[in-house]
Amino acid sequence: MITVDLHSHILPWMDDGASDSDVSMTLLHKEASDGIRQIALTSHFNPIDEKVSEFRIRRAVSFRQLNKVIENSDLKGLFDLRPAAEIRYNASLLEMEDLDDLCIAGTKVLLIEFSTQHYPEFVQDIFYRLQAKGYTILMAHVERFPWLREKPEILYDLVCGGAYAQVNAESVCKSKQTYSFIRKMMDCGLIHCLGTDTHNMEKRPPYMKEAEHVIAKNQGEDTVAYINEIGQSLLAGKMPNAYIPSKPKKGFWDFLKK
Ligand SMILES: [Fe+2]
Repeated sequence: MITVDLHSHILPWMDDGASDSDVSMTLLHKEASDGIRQIALTSHFNPIDEKVSEFRIRRAVSFRQLNKVIENSDLKGLFDLRPAAEIRYNASLLEMEDLDDLCIAGTKVLLIEFSTQHYPEFVQDIFYRLQAKGYTILMAHVERFPWLREKPEILYDLVCGGAYAQVNAESVCKSKQTYSFIRKMMDCGLIHCLGTDTHNMEKRPPYMKEAEHVIAKNQGEDTVAYINEIGQSLLAGKMPNAYIPSKPKKGFWDFLKK
């Protein structure tokens, strides 16, 4: 059973996710019924648009308001909620002194999102330097980038370099083609965890239980347990016990692209 959601836009008034605390509560009730108990609240952060200090203040206000509503509801005490951020990749991350404020609370994990348009310049070097500073890199919804699906060896290199990869639950249960790609990457040890990336019930509902059923049916309960174990380890601030990625063989990447 998966009990961890590492990617969500449940915090109200922060971004294009929950527009108010009523929406947040609807999303949290669905997460609760799916068996989720630990959630990273990863509101969008783009270093080009905002200072970390401003983002942190906005997030603290939002988190406090949401907690007040939860305290007066049937969800009181149910969740371990962690303020966090979904950070738009930018080489300037390396120079930021307050990067700790963007980590999933209680950890050194940075959830980093790439552009859908193009390959992120210097990514291997930037990730290496961030890791050398003690950060753990979690790449957001890696299945969503056309440039990465075209050239999955990029993912192989990044994972071999120590980064972890997250996919969206919705991609697992709502698109057979995308799930086929995800499954092949999982089989090679290139995918580590799931997140709902939920925004609201219309645009992107939390589909963790639905995704869990698809994975259990096609890949077995062991894979479900592996995904959950990695998620729990990341939130516990431990180094996950992840599979070593498969070495590319002749024809390996063509196989992935089929
Ligand atoms: Fe997201």
